[in-house]
Amino acid sequence: MKALILSGGTGTRLRPLTYTNAKQLIPVANKPILYYIIEKISKVGIEDVGIIVGDTHQEIKIAVGNGNRWGIRTTFIHQPFPLGLAHAVKTASSFIGDSDFIMILGDNLFQMELDEIINNFYLNNSNASLLLHRVDNPSEFGVAVVENGRIVKLVEKPEDFISDLIVTGVYVFDKSIFNAISHINPSPRGELEITDAIQKLLEMGGKVSYTLTSGWWKDTGKICDVLEANRLILDSPDGIAGSSCVLGTLFNNRIHMGQNVTVENSVIQGPAVIGDDAVITGSCIGPYTSVGKRVEIINSHIENSIVLDNTKVENIGKKISGSLIGKNVTIKNSKSGQDSLSFLLGDDSKIAM
Ligand code: G1P
Repeated sequence: MKALILSGGTGTRLRPLTYTNAKQLIPVANKPILYYIIEKISKVGIEDVGIIVGDTHQEIKIAVGNGNRWGIRTTFIHQPFPLGLAHAVKTASSFIGDSDFIMILGDNLFQMELDEIINNFYLNNSNASLLLHRVDNPSEFGVAVVENGRIVKLVEKPEDFISDLIVTGVYVFDKSIFNAISHINPSPRGELEITDAIQKLLEMGGKVSYTLTSGWWKDTGKICDVLEANRLILDSPDGIAGSSCVLGTLFNNRIHMGQNVTVENSVIQGPAVIGDDAVITGSCIGPYTSVGKRVEIINSHIENSIVLDNTKVENIGKKISGSLIGKNVTIKNSKSGQDSLSFLLGDDSKIAM
């Protein structure tokens, strides 16, 4: 079996961060989302991993490399335009050849491992097998109707309620998906939808089985979902690791500490993760906060947030919460007696004060 990870797409819902970062590389608990997926693939012993890339191909190639460190071989496949998930599969046809393959969307994070999903594909003698998850807002996803333990219908983002079981971004296929894709047309959003291709597969007599998620699952397309994934991953049990210089600081709960971190006169309330070479002074960090490498936080209070590398937060009088702060950002209260604030902000920035 091969694996295909879809890492193209523009990440419009995470702008402005995704003007300069691939959405699949946004770190959650200080690790890029894509790495969690690769780790799961390597854990089930799959060695041949194709990665569909688009505009952000350079960044993804640098971050993943040849896959050696996970014991896999990577093949990067360029999808020139984001014309849909089924179009991405078509683009990968020569990489896949006649193999069965597991396909995972590069912005999906989930707790369970892949063995149960792959076993179900084979045990049920399927042409496709899907990971389904129960949600309150199914109209935002591909939705599956299940009867007597079998998927009987799939609709992409249905306006009217048909089921609360949604199709996550984890699919196993045999080669019959390519024939089904050749029989579908672009959807109203102009994309070749994988949901439509699987529906076509059903209509052509294909067998589509499923596995229900165990544990949590998140599509990290929106900031609230990235922050929730951060909370869920930080909540997994672990201890303090790494070396640090700690003066007058109170640590509480689970904290992952990087190398060469300096903390002075602060409170770190876990779960939290602090990246290498960070400096925390006179501040309160956490709970549920991921602080990147070389970040400086001075006289400020940050909770339930992700702060990316090389950012500086200084003298902010109010608590910062529910925030995703990019790389190389400076947020500073100059304390110079000015009663106005000045900003230089990228397109589509959002500030709530
Ligand atoms: C895509 C699929 C949808 C699926 C979702 C899961 O949606 O089209 O069927 O439920 O991923 O993450 P999109 O993120 O393109 O809106």
